[in-house]
Amino acid sequence: MEKRHELYRGKAKTVYGTDDPQRLVMHYRDDVSAFDGAKLAKLDRKGETNNRINAYVMGKLAEAGIRTHFVSLLNERESLVKAMTMIPVECVVRNICAGSMAKRYGIEEGTRLSEPIFEFFLKSDALHDPLVNDDHIRVLKWATTAEIAQMKALTHRVNAVLKPLFANAGIDLVDYKLEFGHPLDDPKGDLVLGDEFTPDGCRLWDAKTGEKLDKDRFRRDLGQVIEHYREVGRRIGASL
Ligand code: TMP
Repeated sequence: MEKRHELYRGKAKTVYGTDDPQRLVMHYRDDVSAFDGAKLAKLDRKGETNNRINAYVMGKLAEAGIRTHFVSLLNERESLVKAMTMIPVECVVRNICAGSMAKRYGIEEGTRLSEPIFEFFLKSDALHDPLVNDDHIRVLKWATTAEIAQMKALTHRVNAVLKPLFANAGIDLVDYKLEFGHPLDDPKGDLVLGDEFTPDGCRLWDAKTGEKLDKDRFRRDLGQVIEHYREVGRRIGASL
């Protein structure tokens, strides 16, 4: 496999083409962004830390029978993934109320939910990722009815794998965001998990102390961001 030109530069990752049109290289940079790009920084070792944590989590999901775009770890900062056509919505599951849900409904952060709550957001920094519902997605043709059902089912299945995985490491999986797409080599098949699962896109709290171990450390200026990401990796058993 030969890495070729840059295809897309996101806020924390850069995607490169390869000599195989069905494979891409995902390069994890040290950049961190919050509030849709309004707050930016570089954090030493973030790229390699997230690349490793993501590879580990994607491996656990694959073991549980959940299809992901992850193919292999290439080097410290890069992974090989399947090229996909992405659905432009973000799927969030919440086990504990925090962040935008706490603010939107005036509910105290940390309130445990009797069952997981699923939310869709439109992927648009310019619009600040507005909350959208099934009708918006279907009528505006961001995804079909079948894809909507699959995104919900898969996001809940991920919860059934990752909640215990983190719980066994003494960590509460508070909430997380997933993105799905269709691989170029299977455009009509079932949706496949894309993007990443790292402490950038979820909330993780120490189960005993409630200490934040995720990107809220950066958003809220709590310091020692990467030290805490690495603590997460170490505790779940990712080789860092
Ligand atoms: P929220 O509380 O800001 O709505 O976010 C819920 C979870 O989803 C939180 O773990 C962060 C993650 N998330 C992202 O990583 N990127 C996004 O664009 C959105 C909307 C949420």
